[in-house]
Amino acid sequence: MIRLGQIGCGVIGRKHLETATRLPNATVTAIADLDAELLARTSAEFGIEKATTDAGNLISDSDIDGIILAVPTGVRTPIALEVLRHDKHLLVEKPVAMNAAEVLTLIDEQKGKVAGCCSCRYRFLSNTAAVQSALASGRIGRLRTVRVRALAPPPPSRPENPPHWRLNRQLNGGGILVNWGCYDLDYVLGVLGWAVRPLAVAARTFQVPEPYADWIAPGSDAETHVIAQVRCEDDIVLDYERAEFHPGKPEFSWSFSGDHGTLSILVGNDEVRATIVTVDKNGTLNDSLLVEEPLVYANLHAGPVTDFAHAIDSGNSPMTPLTQALTIARITDAIYASAERGGREISIENDTRK
Ligand SMILES: NC(=O)c1ccc[n+]([C@@H]2O[C@H](COP(=O)([O-])OP(=O)(O)OC[C@H]3O[C@@H](n4cnc5c(N)ncnc54)[C@H](O)[C@@H]3O)[C@@H](O)[C@H]2O)c1
Repeated sequence: MIRLGQIGCGVIGRKHLETATRLPNATVTAIADLDAELLARTSAEFGIEKATTDAGNLISDSDIDGIILAVPTGVRTPIALEVLRHDKHLLVEKPVAMNAAEVLTLIDEQKGKVAGCCSCRYRFLSNTAAVQSALASGRIGRLRTVRVRALAPPPPSRPENPPHWRLNRQLNGGGILVNWGCYDLDYVLGVLGWAVRPLAVAARTFQVPEPYADWIAPGSDAETHVIAQVRCEDDIVLDYERAEFHPGKPEFSWSFSGDHGTLSILVGNDEVRATIVTVDKNGTLNDSLLVEEPLVYANLHAGPVTDFAHAIDSGNSPMTPLTQALTIARITDAIYASAERGGREISIENDTRK
């Protein structure tokens, strides 16, 4: 049995415990949270006896093989480094860290341990294998563009207590781009086998639309809308747009266009449809459904933790190891750098550390 510990028992930490406490190959030995009341409630609910407000106690606990780190991004990396230094496997929430420089420090400390990031959650959709193999088979021809268009309307009413860290650059590393962009980038780059190499980006970011200015937490300074064009090797373009509080109709799609067809994934409220259109020798378009499935958030939440335990058990790589999370962080850093310079093109660092 793999012995897991978890630091952070907030909104997503609770979801992780629902999964981790039901895994056949793992047990949750201890939990930590700064909030003593939340800690006591969580420990009672999940029957986890060892509970501490000091994450250090959990990190040095010799009864733990791997730690799930579900604390806000701004405080996560120093704790993650300690986890790795104590020779424990590590699963970090998304975004992987505040920036790519922090990810490099984690990679330096990894030294053979399993270390993964939860940005992979959409690759636990059941369409992933079919999408991956359709793209690898060359059915859409030579890849030209990868498009992400995800525009979410505001919630139906003003949120009562929006988390103070969620749109705060210092506490969260950014806004919508880090909150959701890592999922998009992980999905589209992941199903392409991480073979598309980003070179440079030109981007713009926008703050919350004025009518919703008091719908976000006081002190928020990060973007709610980002648009970026990422130039990649082999003349491939990644065209990226994501927004929340979008004053328009909702849209959520990832698509891949080549010179012989287009594969699209439409993410609805309750279902996900992956379709492929290809052109035959006569120029006729043929439209077919690849996979249609219900959108079950519980399955998406369960994916990273289940995969983490499996990776420790099997010695296989986790779905998104730090080296690939680094690519996402580098694109993210370059998008923010470009937006800060009024949309000027910024190079994206690449190295071959694996
Ligand atoms: N809320 C979501 O749906 C969601 C989904 C996926 C990922 N995430 C990511 O997970 C992270 C946490 O999000 P959340 O919504 O669970 O936040 P949250 O505020 O609900 O929970 C965070 C918890 O971490 C605890 N904490 C903070 N610093 C700590 C420390 N040093 N030691 C021990 N405990 C500490 C807090 O007391 C709090 O209970 C964020 O980076 C977020 O982007 C959130």
